[in-house]
Amino acid sequence: MSPADDAGNASNQEELGAGILEKITQLLASYLEQAKAGALPVLPHAAPDAMLERWDLPVPALGKGMEEACALLKRTLAQSNHLHHPRYIGHQVSAPLPLAAACDFISALLNNGSAVYEMGQVETVMEAHLVRWIAGLAGFEAELAGGLFTSGGSLGNLTALLAARQVIGKRKGLGDLWRDGYAPGGPRPAVLVSAQAHYCVSRAAQIMGFGEQGVVAVSTDAALRLDPAALPAAYEAARLAGREPIAVVASACSTATGSYDPLERIADFCAARDLWLHVDGAHGFGAALVPQYAPLLEGIGRADSLVWDLHKMLRMPALCTAVVFRDKTHSYATFAQDASYLFEGSAEQEWYNLGQRTIECTKVMMALKVFVCLQVYGTRYFADYIAGRYALAHRFYEVLRTSADFEAPVAPQANIVCFRHVPAEVPAAALDALQSSIRQKLIGSGKFYISQTRLPGGVHLRVTVINPFTQDSDLQALLTEIRGLTADGAQSGSAAARLRH
Ligand SMILES: Cc1ncc(COP(=O)(O)O)c(C=O)c1O
Repeated sequence: MSPADDAGNASNQEELGAGILEKITQLLASYLEQAKAGALPVLPHAAPDAMLERWDLPVPALGKGMEEACALLKRTLAQSNHLHHPRYIGHQVSAPLPLAAACDFISALLNNGSAVYEMGQVETVMEAHLVRWIAGLAGFEAELAGGLFTSGGSLGNLTALLAARQVIGKRKGLGDLWRDGYAPGGPRPAVLVSAQAHYCVSRAAQIMGFGEQGVVAVSTDAALRLDPAALPAAYEAARLAGREPIAVVASACSTATGSYDPLERIADFCAARDLWLHVDGAHGFGAALVPQYAPLLEGIGRADSLVWDLHKMLRMPALCTAVVFRDKTHSYATFAQDASYLFEGSAEQEWYNLGQRTIECTKVMMALKVFVCLQVYGTRYFADYIAGRYALAHRFYEVLRTSADFEAPVAPQANIVCFRHVPAEVPAAALDALQSSIRQKLIGSGKFYISQTRLPGGVHLRVTVINPFTQDSDLQALLTEIRGLTADGAQSGSAAARLRH
């Protein structure tokens, strides 16, 4: 059989199709225009089972050809959540810069895994320069600091806390936990964290074998920030329960309300008790770029580690997360493994072999898009974007605060606003159900995409002003829509009951 007869040897023509890349570029350009103009439903909502059915396509033995690619991609675009729609104000996922998405296309095609340097040399050095830049933003000493990129904030927090466990565990007499595991009957480590922290922090602690008791809740103040005055009691309670606290995890900012924990005072506490300070800046670290908001991060230079999701407030496609250590030697403490097929058993700290310090072996290329977009747009562009989104959220809060039929319990520090619709005719006991039904109606209508969360005062609607195209008028329209939904319900008796359907 000649190579030409071998169906496994696809020709260049077959692989590229007839102009398929140009067609996809055109498709994306017109999609983006429509999404940005709000000409599509934000989310063409369908129930999970109906969606499963819709996409139940038998896998054919003989492919349908390149035309099918366009048909499937068009279908995908039409049925997806449109993050560039001005009324996408839901979760903390960016509306990516088209240039960043284009870089991801190139990254995907290059597929330079970068577990070791020779697998992705450009990516490796770009990543190193970006880590240096982020360390500088945090105020870490350039020569001392170091870190890596990883696949998301959840993995980033786990990676940092693994280092904390190893470094502080040794200092607190828990031994070499990476090598030996936990001593039978010996004390287990614990982390101190507010209940407002993202769930991935307690998940990380439990993955590390701390158990539920190893996640010690620290109370919050009225603005749902970790209360540093509550740290000593939480610490003592943990020790009395036979736990050895090793770290405090501070949120900068928290997921539900975008509240920044007071880092300086938390750092004081950590210094006094020899604890690791990890800052989960997945959402809020971008404030470091904005002179007006950088004070929210005061004290971050004293953190031992930080995490930043650039797929949240830096307009990068997911996933793209930096984990940065004030002392880079700590990042090598996380894993100590021989893997002769990769690392040749080296005990050296090789900054350029990233897989030594990441949970991933093969890793998607994350640095290219950030590196290119920073060169093209400059930091000022991103600072203006972040400042603009924070300011819009603050204006929205003012509207809510001064409206009798809405309440917003926490003045936003970032771009996340939680609120409740509280029309006079709805009894207090029905308010939680009202918020949930409002959200379901909004999503079902395709007009807005917002999220919800439970705060101490009950169920709240939650808006993240992350989309660069959202304006005051969109948020005003959201309130008008919500009032309309409740009024419709009221006409037929019970607003909450009607909205539930
Ligand atoms: C503060 C915070 N930390 C961590 C995460 C988890 O990040 P990821 O979804 O990238 O795993 C989130 C996600 O919203 C977050 O808000």
